[in-house]
Amino acid sequence: MKDYYSDSLLQLAASGRLRTLKPLSDRNGCRIFYKGREMLNLTSNDYLGVAGNKQIQQKFYSTMNEGNILDNFGLGAASSRLLTGDSPNAHNLEETLRRTYGKEACLLFNSGYHANIGILPALLGKNDLILSDKLNHASIMDGMRLCKAEHKRFRHCDYDHLAGLLESYRKTFDRVVIVSESVFSMDGDVAELATLVALKDQFDCMLYLDEAHAIGLYGTLGLGMAEEQGQLQHIDLLVGTFGKALASVGAFLLCSATLREYLINHSRSLIFTTALPPVVLFWNHFIFKEMLSYSERRGSLKILANTLRQKLRDNNLITAGSTNIVPVMLGDDTLTVVLAEAMQEMRYLIFPVRPPTVPQGTSRFRLSLTADMQDADIASIASDLADFMKRFHK
Ligand SMILES: Cc1ncc(COP(=O)(O)O)c(C=O)c1O
Repeated sequence: MKDYYSDSLLQLAASGRLRTLKPLSDRNGCRIFYKGREMLNLTSNDYLGVAGNKQIQQKFYSTMNEGNILDNFGLGAASSRLLTGDSPNAHNLEETLRRTYGKEACLLFNSGYHANIGILPALLGKNDLILSDKLNHASIMDGMRLCKAEHKRFRHCDYDHLAGLLESYRKTFDRVVIVSESVFSMDGDVAELATLVALKDQFDCMLYLDEAHAIGLYGTLGLGMAEEQGQLQHIDLLVGTFGKALASVGAFLLCSATLREYLINHSRSLIFTTALPPVVLFWNHFIFKEMLSYSERRGSLKILANTLRQKLRDNNLITAGSTNIVPVMLGDDTLTVVLAEAMQEMRYLIFPVRPPTVPQGTSRFRLSLTADMQDADIASIASDLADFMKRFHK
């Protein structure tokens, strides 16, 4: 029986798809040590440059004292929020989020993964339907799998396909939820929210939007793509995460007060897990408020991403999307692994992205730019990669 597992790992390795853990150390801004060398971190989700910024974190810890160490900086909630793990800090954070987004209610989850596997199964049952963008994140897929509702996937950002599915199936089901990311995590492209809102209104559905890769980056206040596209008030279920631009862990759902109460009673990933530690709640509140004023960082990140995309195109490399997530399509799994290693030799920290994370035949680099990078940091990425590609294709 043991052979099954070792054989399977050997097969993964042979096909260039073995995943491994990689210890990294000495984070410093957008640089980090890997294999004993400092590299430009092109793989992180620290989009606003907060996780690598000592000053911001020193500012946070500077308010710690004897009196608040346990309530605000404590390391363990010690039970579920429904037992003794709840705190005024959790409610204060929810209130700030709710008010800033102009929504009726907010509910925290321990991570985006917890949110995505805990919301749909709690809200939908066997007479309901989920319509999900084909490129939605694995956590949304897992949420659908845990849910008794039926699910169907529409082609990526193909809203005519979605409309067709709604025409065919809406009447057959009690409740229908359309689910989409706003910024797609592996392709860096963006959903058309006005179109999704129009469809959910036309067909009397709910719209569930995962803003994991948009929080902190879009809209005047950095509230995400729904703010940027003027659709905030129309999103029924808006999920944001603290794990990416906000350099933390945790997630929040903005919804109606009724749905919040319903989820507190039915969402298993909220009920049956230990609450976030006090220090995480306090940091999440601190950094969310700081982030609202980071418009300069948002602006410089946009310019940086446009520059890199242009340089990739100038070097005949295929890229897509329009955000700070810049995919470079390579196709072949093994080529992607070999090229990533070559780029690491040049001190670019790039890991290959392969199936099953992305669809078959679309292995790629997912270059992730952060606001603390300078023009000089990204100036040679495209030409260095193009040089390697020429060498490996000989
Ligand atoms: C679109 C999307 N949603 C949710 C998640 C999960 O968020 P978390 O890392 O907070 O669990 C991710 C993580 O990569 C993601 O890309």
